[in-house]
Amino acid sequence: MSTDSKDVLELSLLLDAIERHYGYDFHNYARASLLRRVRKFLGQVNRSYISDLISLLLYDENSFSLFVKQLSVPVTEMFRDPDFFQVLRTQVIPVLKTYPFIKIWHAGCATGEEVYSMVIVLEEEGLLDRCQIYATDFNDQALSIARKGIYSSKQLERYEGNYRQSGGQTQLSDYGYQMYDSFKLNDRLSKKITFANHNLVTDGVFGEMNLVLCRNVLIYFNQILQERVLGTLVDSLCPFGILCIGKRENLRFCKVAERLESLDLCQRIYRKKE
Ligand SMILES: C[S@@+](CC[C@H](N)C(=O)[O-])C[C@H]1O[C@@H](n2cnc3c(N)ncnc32)[C@H](O)[C@@H]1O
Repeated sequence: MSTDSKDVLELSLLLDAIERHYGYDFHNYARASLLRRVRKFLGQVNRSYISDLISLLLYDENSFSLFVKQLSVPVTEMFRDPDFFQVLRTQVIPVLKTYPFIKIWHAGCATGEEVYSMVIVLEEEGLLDRCQIYATDFNDQALSIARKGIYSSKQLERYEGNYRQSGGQTQLSDYGYQMYDSFKLNDRLSKKITFANHNLVTDGVFGEMNLVLCRNVLIYFNQILQERVLGTLVDSLCPFGILCIGKRENLRFCKVAERLESLDLCQRIYRKKE
């Protein structure tokens, strides 16, 4: 048996053990990137074989948290893809303005930069008071950063640029203050956000949402899992609710596409048919 096929066998045993013990199901994550991340984790914890991780992760919850962190790729930024936020302002906000109360779900919110960007747009459009926002991820460490809303000042210049390109009229720095080498977003921005742990693979539907954002998460899943998770996201929308996925993601070959119409194909913004 080659080393590669042993890796595949050991990975499958490891994923079974994790699912049975912790309920986290990584079986349908895109295999090549999953294997790459697991191998990287092996180096970090000084282990030689993937099967060594079975005992480590079953008996040491801290190592399991690190493992989830390694697999979760919480890469994000404020006003990531400014053109998406521009279309959000021009195409989605006018729809939201027709509702007396607005429920929004950010699935896979990572460390929170995306949800705070959305909150700033809602505030600027005079909608924040009418909103309840749920921001979820399965990575608890990322969620705890998101709750704090404190980010490195080094990123601020870049985020200011993104904000302006997205159609922002003031300055991002108006929404927070410097704390040593960090930037803390004002507390009033987080008042309408509930951060919670939710696993898109194993947990269920999330209420009757007017808007669901799940951007740059589906790329880590294989086709079977993308279809399943997209089903959960669309089931979470109220009739005519809006779904935003990442620009590198699409609904090709997904049955769920039948339940949606396109609002902006380039930005991957869809509306539930009814
Ligand atoms: C690349 S980040 C995307 C962050 C943000 N949506 C954005 O576009 O900037 C992907 C996030 O998806 C989360 N994720 C991956 N698998 C998940 C799952 N099964 N359930 C919930 N979140 C998951 C990761 O923890 C990570 O924070």
